[in-house]
Amino acid sequence: MDTSRVIADRLRHVEGSPTLALAAKAKALAKAGKPVLDFTAGEPDFQTPEPIKQAAIQAIRDNQTKYTPVAGIPELRSAAAAAVNRTRGTSYQPAQTIITCGTKHALFNVFQALCQPSDEVIVLAPYWVSFPPLVRLAGATPVVVETREAEGFLPDPEAVRGALTGSTKAIIINSPGNPTGAVIDEGRLKALARLAIERDLIVVSDEIYDQLVYPPSRHVSIVQAVPEMRDRTVILGGVSKTYSMTGWRIGWAAGPQPWIEAMVNVQSHSTSNPTSISQYAALAALTGDQAPVAAMRREFQERRDRLVSGLNRLAPLRCAMPGGAFYAWCSVSGLQQSAEATAAQWLEDLLIATVPGEGFGAPGFLRMSFAASLKTIDDALGRLGEWLKKRRPAG
Ligand SMILES: Cc1ncc(COP(=O)(O)O)c(C=O)c1O
Repeated sequence: MDTSRVIADRLRHVEGSPTLALAAKAKALAKAGKPVLDFTAGEPDFQTPEPIKQAAIQAIRDNQTKYTPVAGIPELRSAAAAAVNRTRGTSYQPAQTIITCGTKHALFNVFQALCQPSDEVIVLAPYWVSFPPLVRLAGATPVVVETREAEGFLPDPEAVRGALTGSTKAIIINSPGNPTGAVIDEGRLKALARLAIERDLIVVSDEIYDQLVYPPSRHVSIVQAVPEMRDRTVILGGVSKTYSMTGWRIGWAAGPQPWIEAMVNVQSHSTSNPTSISQYAALAALTGDQAPVAAMRREFQERRDRLVSGLNRLAPLRCAMPGGAFYAWCSVSGLQQSAEATAAQWLEDLLIATVPGEGFGAPGFLRMSFAASLKTIDDALGRLGEWLKKRRPAG
Protein backbone atom coordinates (compact mmCIF):
# COMPACT_ATOMS: atom_id res chain seq x y z
CA MET A 1 0.00 0.00 0.00
CA ASP A 2 1.16 3.56 -0.72
CA THR A 3 2.39 4.79 2.68
CA SER A 4 2.12 8.44 1.69
CA ARG A 5 -1.65 7.93 1.40
CA VAL A 6 -1.84 6.18 4.75
CA ILE A 7 0.06 8.52 7.06
CA ALA A 8 -1.94 11.62 8.00
CA ASP A 9 -0.94 14.86 6.25
CA ARG A 10 -0.50 16.70 9.52
CA LEU A 11 2.42 14.40 10.36
CA ARG A 12 4.30 15.38 7.22
CA HIS A 13 6.27 18.06 9.06
CA VAL A 14 6.54 16.27 12.38
CA GLU A 15 9.68 14.29 13.07
CA GLY A 16 10.59 12.20 16.10
CA SER A 17 12.38 14.01 18.95
CA PRO A 18 16.07 14.49 17.99
CA THR A 19 17.11 14.79 21.64
CA LEU A 20 15.68 11.38 22.47
CA ALA A 21 17.40 9.86 19.39
CA LEU A 22 20.86 11.14 20.40
CA ALA A 23 20.43 10.14 24.01
CA ALA A 24 19.55 6.65 22.77
CA LYS A 25 22.70 6.52 20.60
CA ALA A 26 24.91 7.58 23.54
CA LYS A 27 23.25 4.98 25.76
CA ALA A 28 23.79 2.26 23.14
CA LEU A 29 27.51 3.11 22.95
CA ALA A 30 27.79 3.07 26.75
CA LYS A 31 26.02 -0.30 26.81
CA ALA A 32 28.55 -1.60 24.32
CA GLY A 33 31.24 -0.81 26.91
CA LYS A 34 32.51 2.52 25.47
CA PRO A 35 33.47 5.18 28.07
CA VAL A 36 30.88 7.66 26.80
CA LEU A 37 30.56 10.99 28.58
CA ASP A 38 26.88 11.65 28.17
CA PHE A 39 25.61 15.25 28.12
CA THR A 40 22.38 14.53 26.25
CA ALA A 41 20.16 13.86 29.24
CA GLY A 42 16.98 15.85 29.53
CA GLU A 43 16.48 14.40 32.98
CA PRO A 44 18.15 14.70 36.38
CA ASP A 45 20.62 11.90 37.12
CA PHE A 46 19.46 11.66 40.75
CA GLN A 47 17.15 8.94 42.01
CA THR A 48 13.55 9.75 42.88
CA PRO A 49 13.59 10.54 46.63
CA GLU A 50 12.74 7.54 48.82
CA PRO A 51 9.54 8.91 50.47
CA ILE A 52 8.04 9.43 47.02
CA LYS A 53 8.79 5.83 46.04
CA GLN A 54 7.32 4.64 49.35
CA ALA A 55 4.12 6.59 48.67
CA ALA A 56 3.75 4.76 45.35
CA ILE A 57 4.31 1.39 47.01
CA GLN A 58 1.73 2.30 49.65
CA ALA A 59 -0.73 3.33 46.92
CA ILE A 60 -0.44 -0.13 45.38
CA ARG A 61 -0.93 -1.77 48.81
CA ASP A 62 -3.99 0.44 49.33
CA ASN A 63 -5.36 -0.76 45.98
CA GLN A 64 -5.23 2.68 44.39
CA THR A 65 -5.00 0.87 41.09
CA LYS A 66 -8.25 1.78 39.38
CA TYR A 67 -9.36 4.64 37.13
CA THR A 68 -9.26 7.99 38.88
CA PRO A 69 -11.19 11.09 37.82
CA VAL A 70 -9.94 12.11 34.35
CA ALA A 71 -8.48 15.40 35.61
CA GLY A 72 -6.65 13.68 38.48
CA ILE A 73 -7.36 12.85 42.11
CA PRO A 74 -8.76 15.90 43.97
CA GLU A 75 -5.87 15.88 46.49
CA LEU A 76 -3.30 16.17 43.71
CA ARG A 77 -5.23 18.90 41.89
CA SER A 78 -5.24 20.82 45.20
CA ALA A 79 -1.53 20.19 45.72
CA ALA A 80 -0.72 21.28 42.16
CA ALA A 81 -2.82 24.44 42.61
CA ALA A 82 -1.01 25.12 45.90
CA ALA A 83 2.39 24.56 44.26
CA VAL A 84 1.55 27.03 41.49
CA ASN A 85 0.04 29.56 43.92
CA ARG A 86 2.88 29.33 46.46
CA THR A 87 5.41 31.24 44.35
CA ARG A 88 3.19 33.27 42.04
CA GLY A 89 0.74 35.06 44.32
CA THR A 90 -2.12 33.48 42.39
CA SER A 91 -5.22 31.77 43.76
CA TYR A 92 -5.90 28.95 41.29
CA GLN A 93 -8.54 26.56 42.56
CA PRO A 94 -8.34 22.77 42.02
CA ALA A 95 -11.02 23.09 39.31
CA GLN A 96 -8.62 25.36 37.43
CA THR A 97 -6.03 22.59 37.22
CA ILE A 98 -5.67 19.35 35.33
CA ILE A 99 -3.23 16.55 36.10
CA THR A 100 -1.69 15.09 32.94
CA CYS A 101 0.70 12.34 31.84
CA GLY A 102 3.71 14.66 32.07
CA THR A 103 4.10 18.31 31.14
CA LYS A 104 4.53 17.38 27.49
CA HIS A 105 1.06 15.89 27.61
CA ALA A 106 -0.30 19.00 29.32
CA LEU A 107 1.06 21.00 26.37
CA PHE A 108 -0.46 18.51 23.93
CA ASN A 109 -3.83 18.99 25.61
CA VAL A 110 -3.44 22.78 25.54
CA PHE A 111 -2.89 22.98 21.81
CA GLN A 112 -5.54 20.37 21.02
CA ALA A 113 -8.02 22.25 23.16
CA LEU A 114 -7.20 25.82 22.12
CA CYS A 115 -5.78 25.81 18.58
CA GLN A 116 -7.26 25.17 15.19
CA PRO A 117 -5.86 24.99 11.67
CA SER A 118 -6.08 28.70 10.92
CA ASP A 119 -4.11 29.64 14.06
CA GLU A 120 -0.50 30.73 14.31
CA VAL A 121 1.52 30.26 17.48
CA ILE A 122 4.68 32.24 18.25
CA VAL A 123 7.60 30.03 19.26
CA LEU A 124 10.80 31.68 20.46
CA ALA A 125 14.05 30.15 19.18
CA PRO A 126 16.12 28.46 20.48
CA TYR A 127 13.05 26.46 21.47
CA TRP A 128 12.45 23.17 23.22
CA VAL A 129 12.27 20.64 20.38
CA SER A 130 8.68 19.62 21.03
CA PHE A 131 7.04 23.06 20.84
CA PRO A 132 6.71 23.25 17.02
CA PRO A 133 5.52 19.62 16.62
CA LEU A 134 2.99 20.03 19.43
CA VAL A 135 1.55 23.06 17.62
CA ARG A 136 1.56 21.23 14.27
CA LEU A 137 -0.14 18.17 15.76
CA ALA A 138 -3.06 20.47 16.56
CA GLY A 139 -3.09 21.53 12.90
CA ALA A 140 -1.88 25.04 13.74
CA THR A 141 1.26 26.77 12.46
CA PRO A 142 4.31 27.57 14.58
CA VAL A 143 5.88 30.95 13.74
CA VAL A 144 9.46 31.12 14.92
CA VAL A 145 10.89 34.34 16.34
CA GLU A 146 14.63 34.32 16.98
CA THR A 147 16.23 35.49 20.18
CA ARG A 148 19.85 36.63 20.21
CA GLU A 149 22.92 35.37 22.01
CA ALA A 150 23.95 38.99 22.71
CA GLU A 151 20.65 39.47 24.57
CA GLY A 152 21.02 36.29 26.60
CA PHE A 153 18.42 34.52 24.42
CA LEU A 154 15.68 36.60 26.02
CA PRO A 155 12.62 37.43 23.93
CA ASP A 156 12.56 40.79 22.20
CA PRO A 157 8.93 41.98 22.46
CA GLU A 158 9.35 44.16 19.36
CA ALA A 159 10.55 41.17 17.32
CA VAL A 160 7.51 39.26 18.59
CA ARG A 161 5.27 42.17 17.58
CA GLY A 162 6.78 42.07 14.09
CA ALA A 163 5.77 38.41 13.70
CA LEU A 164 2.14 38.87 14.74
CA THR A 165 -0.60 38.53 12.13
CA GLY A 166 -4.37 38.50 12.32
CA SER A 167 -4.09 34.72 12.77
CA THR A 168 -1.78 34.75 15.80
CA LYS A 169 -3.51 32.99 18.67
CA ALA A 170 -0.81 32.34 21.23
CA ILE A 171 2.76 32.91 22.35
CA ILE A 172 4.71 30.12 24.03
CA ILE A 173 7.17 31.22 26.69
CA ASN A 174 9.45 28.89 28.62
CA SER A 175 11.36 30.29 31.56
CA PRO A 176 13.77 28.98 32.69
CA GLY A 177 14.18 27.74 29.17
CA ASN A 178 15.29 24.57 27.51
CA PRO A 179 17.81 24.60 25.81
CA THR A 180 19.43 27.90 26.88
CA GLY A 181 18.64 28.04 30.61
CA ALA A 182 17.63 31.68 30.09
CA VAL A 183 15.38 33.15 32.77
CA ILE A 184 13.05 35.86 31.47
CA ASP A 185 13.19 39.00 33.58
CA GLU A 186 10.16 40.86 34.86
CA GLY A 187 10.60 43.79 32.47
CA ARG A 188 10.38 41.60 29.39
CA LEU A 189 7.49 39.62 30.84
CA LYS A 190 5.61 42.89 31.34
CA ALA A 191 6.32 43.98 27.77
CA LEU A 192 5.15 40.60 26.42
CA ALA A 193 2.05 40.81 28.62
CA ARG A 194 1.22 44.30 27.28
CA LEU A 195 1.51 42.93 23.76
CA ALA A 196 -0.67 39.91 24.55
CA ILE A 197 -3.35 42.14 26.07
CA GLU A 198 -3.19 44.68 23.22
CA ARG A 199 -3.48 41.96 20.54
CA ASP A 200 -5.81 39.67 22.50
CA LEU A 201 -3.39 36.73 22.58
CA ILE A 202 -3.10 33.68 24.80
CA VAL A 203 0.17 32.92 26.60
CA VAL A 204 1.24 29.32 27.08
CA SER A 205 3.84 29.49 29.85
CA ASP A 206 5.90 26.35 30.32
CA GLU A 207 7.37 26.73 33.80
CA ILE A 208 8.57 23.17 34.32
CA TYR A 209 12.01 24.38 35.50
CA ASP A 210 10.63 26.92 38.00
CA GLN A 211 12.32 25.20 40.97
CA LEU A 212 15.69 24.90 39.22
CA VAL A 213 16.84 28.51 39.26
CA TYR A 214 20.24 29.60 40.55
CA PRO A 215 20.69 32.85 42.49
CA PRO A 216 20.86 35.69 41.68
CA SER A 217 18.45 34.61 38.93
CA ARG A 218 14.86 34.45 40.09
CA HIS A 219 11.87 32.79 38.51
CA VAL A 220 9.00 35.16 37.80
CA SER A 221 5.83 34.00 36.14
CA ILE A 222 4.02 36.24 33.67
CA VAL A 223 0.87 35.93 35.82
CA GLN A 224 2.82 37.34 38.74
CA ALA A 225 4.44 40.15 36.74
CA VAL A 226 1.03 41.19 35.37
CA PRO A 227 -1.92 39.75 37.34
CA GLU A 228 -4.28 40.77 34.53
CA MET A 229 -2.66 37.98 32.48
CA ARG A 230 -4.32 35.30 34.62
CA ASP A 231 -7.35 35.08 32.39
CA ARG A 232 -5.30 34.71 29.20
CA THR A 233 -2.48 32.42 30.40
CA VAL A 234 -2.10 28.72 30.97
CA ILE A 235 0.80 27.66 33.22
CA LEU A 236 2.41 24.27 32.77
CA GLY A 237 4.50 22.39 35.29
CA GLY A 238 5.27 18.92 36.54
CA VAL A 239 7.29 16.68 38.80
CA SER A 240 9.77 15.34 36.22
CA LYS A 241 12.62 17.80 36.70
CA THR A 242 12.03 19.10 40.23
CA TYR A 243 11.75 15.69 41.89
CA SER A 244 13.69 13.58 39.43
CA MET A 245 10.52 11.78 38.40
CA THR A 246 10.72 11.74 34.60
CA GLY A 247 9.51 8.14 34.32
CA TRP A 248 6.44 8.63 36.48
CA ARG A 249 4.78 10.90 33.90
CA ILE A 250 2.94 13.49 35.95
CA GLY A 251 2.46 17.10 34.90
CA TRP A 252 -0.23 19.72 35.22
CA ALA A 253 -1.75 22.86 33.81
CA ALA A 254 -3.37 25.75 35.64
CA GLY A 255 -5.47 28.36 33.90
CA PRO A 256 -8.95 29.71 33.20
CA GLN A 257 -11.54 27.06 34.07
CA PRO A 258 -13.19 26.82 30.61
CA TRP A 259 -9.77 26.16 29.05
CA ILE A 260 -9.04 23.49 31.65
CA GLU A 261 -12.45 21.90 31.04
CA ALA A 262 -11.67 21.73 27.30
CA MET A 263 -8.36 20.04 28.14
CA VAL A 264 -10.14 17.56 30.40
CA ASN A 265 -12.46 16.83 27.49
CA VAL A 266 -9.45 16.05 25.23
CA GLN A 267 -7.85 13.94 27.95
CA SER A 268 -11.09 12.04 28.60
CA HIS A 269 -10.98 10.69 25.04
CA SER A 270 -7.25 9.98 24.88
CA THR A 271 -5.32 8.88 27.98
CA SER A 272 -8.09 9.18 30.59
CA ASN A 273 -6.47 9.74 33.98
CA PRO A 274 -2.69 9.71 34.44
CA THR A 275 -1.49 6.56 36.22
CA SER A 276 -3.16 6.35 39.63
CA ILE A 277 0.01 5.17 41.40
CA SER A 278 2.10 7.99 39.93
CA GLN A 279 -0.49 10.48 41.09
CA TYR A 280 -0.03 9.34 44.71
CA ALA A 281 3.74 9.56 44.27
CA ALA A 282 3.42 13.10 42.89
CA LEU A 283 1.16 14.02 45.81
CA ALA A 284 3.89 12.86 48.21
CA ALA A 285 6.45 14.85 46.23
CA LEU A 286 4.46 18.08 46.38
CA THR A 287 3.33 17.80 49.98
CA GLY A 288 6.41 16.17 51.52
CA ASP A 289 9.82 17.41 52.65
CA GLN A 290 11.32 19.70 50.00
CA ALA A 291 14.91 19.27 51.23
CA PRO A 292 15.85 16.88 48.37
CA VAL A 293 14.91 19.60 45.87
CA ALA A 294 17.26 22.09 47.52
CA ALA A 295 20.02 19.47 47.58
CA MET A 296 19.61 18.74 43.86
CA ARG A 297 19.57 22.44 43.07
CA ARG A 298 22.84 22.99 44.95
CA GLU A 299 24.46 20.10 43.13
CA PHE A 300 23.26 21.36 39.74
CA GLN A 301 24.62 24.80 40.51
CA GLU A 302 28.07 23.44 41.32
CA ARG A 303 28.10 21.42 38.09
CA ARG A 304 26.87 24.37 36.07
CA ASP A 305 29.65 26.59 37.38
CA ARG A 306 32.27 23.91 36.65
CA LEU A 307 31.03 23.15 33.14
CA VAL A 308 30.34 26.69 31.96
CA SER A 309 33.55 28.21 33.31
CA GLY A 310 35.50 25.25 31.86
CA LEU A 311 33.93 25.66 28.41
CA ASN A 312 34.68 29.37 28.43
CA ARG A 313 38.37 28.57 28.96
CA LEU A 314 38.33 26.47 25.78
CA ALA A 315 38.33 29.06 22.97
CA PRO A 316 36.71 29.23 20.49
CA LEU A 317 33.94 27.55 22.51
CA ARG A 318 31.72 30.07 24.29
CA CYS A 319 28.92 29.62 26.76
CA ALA A 320 26.59 32.04 28.55
CA MET A 321 25.87 31.30 32.21
CA PRO A 322 22.37 29.76 32.36
CA GLY A 323 20.21 31.17 35.16
CA GLY A 324 18.12 28.02 35.42
CA ALA A 325 17.34 24.48 34.19
CA PHE A 326 20.32 22.13 33.73
CA TYR A 327 21.66 22.88 30.28
CA ALA A 328 24.74 24.69 29.04
CA TRP A 329 24.16 26.18 25.61
CA CYS A 330 27.57 26.24 24.05
CA SER A 331 28.45 28.19 20.93
CA VAL A 332 30.59 26.16 18.53
CA SER A 333 30.37 28.65 15.68
CA GLY A 334 34.08 29.45 16.13
CA LEU A 335 34.91 25.93 14.98
CA GLN A 336 33.77 26.85 11.43
CA GLN A 337 31.64 23.74 11.01
CA SER A 338 28.01 22.94 11.74
CA ALA A 339 26.85 21.99 15.21
CA GLU A 340 25.59 18.71 13.77
CA ALA A 341 29.04 17.89 12.36
CA THR A 342 30.64 18.92 15.67
CA ALA A 343 28.30 16.75 17.75
CA ALA A 344 28.95 13.78 15.44
CA GLN A 345 32.71 14.37 15.64
CA TRP A 346 32.74 14.73 19.43
CA LEU A 347 30.80 11.51 19.78
CA GLU A 348 33.00 9.61 17.37
CA ASP A 349 36.44 10.98 18.33
CA LEU A 350 35.97 11.91 22.00
CA LEU A 351 32.99 9.81 23.09
CA ILE A 352 31.33 13.01 24.28
CA ALA A 353 27.61 13.00 23.57
CA THR A 354 25.85 16.35 23.13
CA VAL A 355 22.77 17.54 21.28
CA PRO A 356 23.31 19.83 18.26
CA GLY A 357 21.34 23.07 18.09
CA GLU A 358 19.67 22.43 14.73
CA GLY A 359 16.79 20.55 16.44
CA PHE A 360 16.24 23.57 18.70
CA GLY A 361 16.04 25.96 15.74
CA ALA A 362 19.53 27.33 16.48
CA PRO A 363 22.45 26.02 14.46
CA GLY A 364 25.89 26.97 15.79
CA PHE A 365 25.24 25.68 19.32
CA LEU A 366 25.37 22.43 21.25
CA ARG A 367 23.27 21.64 24.29
CA MET A 368 25.21 20.04 27.10
CA SER A 369 23.10 18.86 30.01
CA PHE A 370 24.78 19.15 33.38
CA ALA A 371 22.71 16.29 34.71
CA ALA A 372 26.12 14.64 34.70
CA SER A 373 28.62 14.13 37.52
CA LEU A 374 31.48 16.53 38.24
CA LYS A 375 33.87 13.75 37.17
CA THR A 376 32.10 13.41 33.80
CA ILE A 377 32.32 17.18 33.39
CA ASP A 378 36.02 17.29 34.26
CA ASP A 379 36.81 14.36 31.96
CA ALA A 380 34.94 15.99 29.08
CA LEU A 381 36.70 19.32 29.58
CA GLY A 382 40.03 17.43 29.56
CA ARG A 383 39.17 15.54 26.35
CA LEU A 384 37.95 18.73 24.68
CA GLY A 385 41.08 20.65 25.68
CA GLU A 386 43.28 17.98 24.08
CA TRP A 387 41.12 17.82 20.99
CA LEU A 388 41.15 21.57 20.45
CA LYS A 389 44.95 21.55 20.61
CA LYS A 390 45.28 19.10 17.72
CA ARG A 391 41.99 19.65 15.98
CA ARG A 392 41.24 18.46 12.53
CA PRO A 393 38.23 19.86 10.63
CA ALA A 394 35.17 17.62 10.38
CA GLY A 395 35.23 15.36 7.30
C1 LIG B 1 10.66 22.89 28.42
C2 LIG B 1 10.13 21.52 28.67
N1 LIG B 1 8.81 21.35 28.76
C3 LIG B 1 8.28 20.13 28.99
C4 LIG B 1 9.09 19.02 29.12
C5 LIG B 1 8.42 17.68 29.33
O1 LIG B 1 8.48 17.25 30.61
P1 LIG B 1 7.60 16.04 31.15
O2 LIG B 1 8.56 14.96 31.51
O3 LIG B 1 6.88 16.58 32.35
O4 LIG B 1 6.66 15.64 30.06
C6 LIG B 1 10.47 19.15 29.03
C7 LIG B 1 11.33 17.97 29.12
O5 LIG B 1 12.43 17.93 28.63
C8 LIG B 1 11.01 20.44 28.82
O6 LIG B 1 12.32 20.63 28.74
